[in-house]
Amino acid sequence: MQTITRDVQYVVDREELCEITESYLQGQNPYQDLEGFLKAAFLASHDLPAELRSALYDFRAHGNSEGYFLIRSLPCDENLMNTPEKITDPSQKKQTFVSEFCLAMIGGFLGHPFSYIQENCGNFFHNIRPQKEKADKISSESSKILLDLHSETAFHPLYPDWLLLYCLRGDRDKQAKTIIASIAHIKDQISPQLDAVLRQPLFKTGIDYSFGNISQDRGNGPVIPILYGDKDDPLLIFDPDLMIGLTPEASCAITELKNLLDSKKDGVLLESGDLLVVDNHRSLHGRNKFTPYYDGKDRWLQRIYVAESLLRASRLFGKKERTITYTFSD
Ligand SMILES: [Fe+2]
Repeated sequence: MQTITRDVQYVVDREELCEITESYLQGQNPYQDLEGFLKAAFLASHDLPAELRSALYDFRAHGNSEGYFLIRSLPCDENLMNTPEKITDPSQKKQTFVSEFCLAMIGGFLGHPFSYIQENCGNFFHNIRPQKEKADKISSESSKILLDLHSETAFHPLYPDWLLLYCLRGDRDKQAKTIIASIAHIKDQISPQLDAVLRQPLFKTGIDYSFGNISQDRGNGPVIPILYGDKDDPLLIFDPDLMIGLTPEASCAITELKNLLDSKKDGVLLESGDLLVVDNHRSLHGRNKFTPYYDGKDRWLQRIYVAESLLRASRLFGKKERTITYTFSD
């Protein structure tokens, strides 16, 4: 990693966090009462160390130059079950819910956790682990391919403001790094001409494999601009693997921007008890390829999506829902 400062990484006192978690968790089960669980976690977030809350407040309000915030040494589930084969196994077999609570606590401090009905079989807490049959697909469950830099669900009318990844079990070979590239690191290299193209709705997104794009077609989603926001603090939504430009200039702009971001990418190796918050407006993320063993001890992350406000979902879809049911027509 590059320079690590407190606005990018915070190491908590695990014992202090265990006490907070225990006093609020009180045997609650997110797979039986999600709303009660999320509320308890939100209330617990007010007992987090003041210094961490202050850093998270700044990150929520302003982002940072790296495009992520890493919290290390959080409490872990004791006697953790094997890395699940089936995506739904944790909801039936996991004995304790510390990982889910850490995600809900930090997610609740930032905004409102939500999910999509199509993603991860509709699980609210996504289980990300290597899966044999998806080893070479553009999917978070792949392993044999580099999962290239992308914004999360760039094609969706409601994409997450933040995605949170909690590491339950790290990659034993320490190959599987999460890759991140921040727009802040390249903004000064974006020429006025490139900026002007990227800010126009000239880019057709592609729908993710997990949302039904089994043939991994490019450009079958909505048309959007890639760059938006303040010139001094530009924001982006970009998925070079699945996006196409609608003009020759737009196609060149995709390549140019991808090359700039690739030149500044950084790797974060997540270990058990780490929670990574990715700013989905200021950075792209991906993952190195790695070797899975499929023996129950492979890398296992849980992920949630967080929106600043779910009122946006009500406005867009005319429905008040935490699990977004919007579907894409062909
Ligand atoms: Fe992703």
